[in-house]
Amino acid sequence: MDTVLVVDFGAQYAQLIARRVREARVYSEIVPHDAPASELLARRPKGIILSGGPESVYAQWAPSVDPQIYESGVPILGICYGAQLLTSQLGGTVTRTGRGEYGRTPLRRTGSSPLFYDWPEDQSCDVWMSHADSITEAPRGFAATASTPESPVAALEDTERRIHGVQFHPEVVHTARGQELMERFLFDVCAARPAWTHTNIIESSVEKVRAQVGDSRVLCALSGGVDSAVAAALVHRAIGDQLTCVFVDTGLMRSGEGDQVEETFRSQFHVDLVHVKATDRFFGVLAGVTDPEEKRKAIGKTFIRVFEEVARDFEDARFLVQGTLYPDIIESGTGDAATIKSHHNVGGLPHDMSFELVEPLRLLFKDEVRAVGEELGLPEEIVWRQPFPGPGLAVRIVGEVTPERVQILRAADAIVLEEVRKAGLYRELWQSFAVLLTVRSVGVMGDGRTYAYPIVVRAVTSDDAMTADWARLPHELLERISTRVINEVDGVNRVALDITSKPPGTIEWE
Ligand code: XMP
Repeated sequence: MDTVLVVDFGAQYAQLIARRVREARVYSEIVPHDAPASELLARRPKGIILSGGPESVYAQWAPSVDPQIYESGVPILGICYGAQLLTSQLGGTVTRTGRGEYGRTPLRRTGSSPLFYDWPEDQSCDVWMSHADSITEAPRGFAATASTPESPVAALEDTERRIHGVQFHPEVVHTARGQELMERFLFDVCAARPAWTHTNIIESSVEKVRAQVGDSRVLCALSGGVDSAVAAALVHRAIGDQLTCVFVDTGLMRSGEGDQVEETFRSQFHVDLVHVKATDRFFGVLAGVTDPEEKRKAIGKTFIRVFEEVARDFEDARFLVQGTLYPDIIESGTGDAATIKSHHNVGGLPHDMSFELVEPLRLLFKDEVRAVGEELGLPEEIVWRQPFPGPGLAVRIVGEVTPERVQILRAADAIVLEEVRKAGLYRELWQSFAVLLTVRSVGVMGDGRTYAYPIVVRAVTSDDAMTADWARLPHELLERISTRVINEVDGVNRVALDITSKPPGTIEWE
């Protein structure tokens, strides 16, 4: 597979570039900037992209890249910080002009370039800028090919060595012809082949899984979420009956989730599925527990015990499927799944279980996981499901978790989700759900006084859950949710809206 390496000078920038490269159907991987050139070149990359980053090349600890890559003959594209870095490493000038550029900026071509093939020559194009320093002089052997009001060298290149730099960000959607530029680099400069298709992803994963597990039995804990579902479906495609899926019904799932897993995996995919109904056990350990951390620990521990008991029935099982994704691997910084926050570990299974991990999604971004899930025939409701915390509805119930209170929350949550879907906002929102509080307030319904719980509606937009903004839901939608929750859910007489971003709030309430 033709590979393009993205050298990481700042995580979000590099991830977005790597995703754009893959959208062009070229396989890309993110590599640390301090890797020696010999290591990078050993991967036989078709091209190397130097990402943007938050530093200035003048900062004391400015991250750098082994300059040997410039002599390797491999095409290079530096973006923003990457362009400034290659300029300064190759003898050009980067200047603290005091006049940075931020946001949409008109770019004018000042020379021809394979990157700007097809861009109009006589009019400017909007590009997205975000820089304080500027390239004021290109290195020897380079030509400046574009400028903006504050950047005399907004693009530069040495066509002989196939080294290119752009001060703007082609990877963001605000640069109108950005993806086109990336494709010109990938296809015309690097001559990469667009072979990273969903069918190829599935085929190569299937082969890898088969080679890894041979004829051993493999277990997979299904959570109902998209990652574990796609991982299970992929492994099932690879090894069929050798896979046993375990679905632990904690009693803390959203409405209809257990049935959906059963229907999809048992009836549609004919997967060997163990459905463990452990509801009473979970409510037993949660009785009287009100502290958020204690709740999480009690649920985590019980989950592990239940899973271990099931696993004991499969003595021959040597492998365990995990739905670890590429961003988890990048963020852990080590390529070692064991160091990932337990948060991200499906079901929070313990590391001391003597299983070898099968991680068929470890090279995939979330959007690729969804596309693969669709290609494998998983239902839309699973593939596009909003993220859901491991401890389930319990972290959305402030105070004690009892079957009655879960029932109230589940009914309210189902209404929130149904109305959000009807309004066509489900995929736009990172998460949307209901929270149940312990306080009660007075209300009046019919002729009677009520004294019941409030439901809080929480809806956020986010790219990665690290930060989130509260979603500006239309008032008509909020009104429908409020009316329906109060009319249809016994025990609720008030609906409130959470308008806190993250930070300072978290997405979940506990
Ligand atoms: P917070 O509440 O920390 O949540 O802003 C960030 C994201 O993580 C999800 N979340 C969890 N996911 N196990 C999980 O698998 C957990 O224990 C857990 N706690 C929170 C949360 O839904 C949000 O998407």
